[in-house]
Amino acid sequence: KPVYVLGGPNLNLLGTREPEIYGRDTLEDIHARLRALAGDVAIVARQTNSEGELVSWVQEAAREGRALILNAAAYTHTSIALHDALKTLKIPLIEVHLSNPAAREAFRHVNYVAPVAVGTIAGLGAYGYELALSAALRLSGEARS
Ligand code: DQA
Repeated sequence: KPVYVLGGPNLNLLGTREPEIYGRDTLEDIHARLRALAGDVAIVARQTNSEGELVSWVQEAAREGRALILNAAAYTHTSIALHDALKTLKIPLIEVHLSNPAAREAFRHVNYVAPVAVGTIAGLGAYGYELALSAALRLSGEARS
């Protein structure tokens, strides 16, 4: 079964969007690095700007995935629909943010994902995705280290 790596709104703009906050890697760069690191384990990596599509993909990950790495971007702070979908997961959920929302505006301190995640990696930029993959493989029984 694959590891799902799902991204929410505006992450398609990574590389050019506020690079001082989010870094210069594109989402394609990040996904390519994860595929290289995952070895034999398949990676299903997708991004959407639509809340409903993200919910449907979470449901798909629940059926088809071994683990879910999720950067829900702004929906992290707003989406009860996403929270409800994530609650149905029986596979490990690892939350990622490039920036550290706890060190930013108060509206980013509300988080509907963290309460249903195994853990959250935030503030480490694109490297956080690599750490999340390592955790996903370990938690889903695929780790070699
Ligand atoms: C983000 C943090 C969110 O607050 C923001 O809305 C994003 C990106 C991050 O990766 O740092 O779009 O999820």
